[in-house]
Amino acid sequence: MLYAPPPPLPSHPPKGVFVTGTDTGIGKTLISAALTRAWHGTYWKPFQTGLAEEPGDTETVQQLTELSQDHILPPAYALQAPLAPAAASALEGITLHPEQLTLPEAPHAPLIIEGAGGLMVPLTKTMLMIDFIAQLGVPVILVTRSNLGTLNHTLLSLEALYQRGIPVLGFITNGVDSPQNNQILESIGQCRALYHLAPLSTPPTATALRHIATHIPPWATMNAS
Ligand SMILES: Nc1ncnc2c1ncn2[C@@H]1O[C@H](COP(=O)(O)OP(=O)(O)OP(=O)(O)O)[C@@H](O)[C@H]1O
Ligand SMILES: [Mg+2]
Repeated sequence: MLYAPPPPLPSHPPKGVFVTGTDTGIGKTLISAALTRAWHGTYWKPFQTGLAEEPGDTETVQQLTELSQDHILPPAYALQAPLAPAAASALEGITLHPEQLTLPEAPHAPLIIEGAGGLMVPLTKTMLMIDFIAQLGVPVILVTRSNLGTLNHTLLSLEALYQRGIPVLGFITNGVDSPQNNQILESIGQCRALYHLAPLSTPPTATALRHIATHIPPWATMNAS
């Protein structure tokens, strides 16, 4: 069993949700775009790295959601190297100050905040992504792979979140569906499955995203009541 029980879900709708994942490339951006589109919220990726090699998640979400610019906030830090924020910023001689960041005002609620990589990604020498989530005080949605390997990674992530008192609204699986894994994650992880994203046959498009967004549960069902 998990070492710590899940913290209660917020009794009132929170200001936003932090979309994290069990890994990099797990589908956080695609899912964040779907949530932003479904809930007509505001997307924010506070720590963007890898801009030397790709346009970045903010631009991807803008294109996929087809929402107006006021649904997208710019990153707090935009870094070139495709590394964790602590390493990417060191290469540029920049010191990150995640401890100074607070929840920005979202022109459209809720705020959908996308992490970088997973929970234990270093932002500085002393601060991990999970510390930053706790500081913001928002609950989490955890994006996980659906097939082999997910039980270990997802349960480790849930336990780390629970130990820090961070509520988890639910998990979203990405890949080939495995109802058996889902059941185990729901029972041992004490966490609800919110949605399953099947593999798309082509690279994601705005049209596909529109369809996915129609299956996302409403924001109003994301708190405890
Ligand atoms: N269900 C899916 N079907 C097809 N392609 C997918 C699916 N999920 C994700 N992808 C693709 O896999 C790649 C990684 O997904 P994504 O960018 O959403 O991951 P991420 O967790 O946001 O990564 P990062 O840690 O870099 O932010 C992208 O090219 C995305 O379009
Ligand atoms: Mg991403």
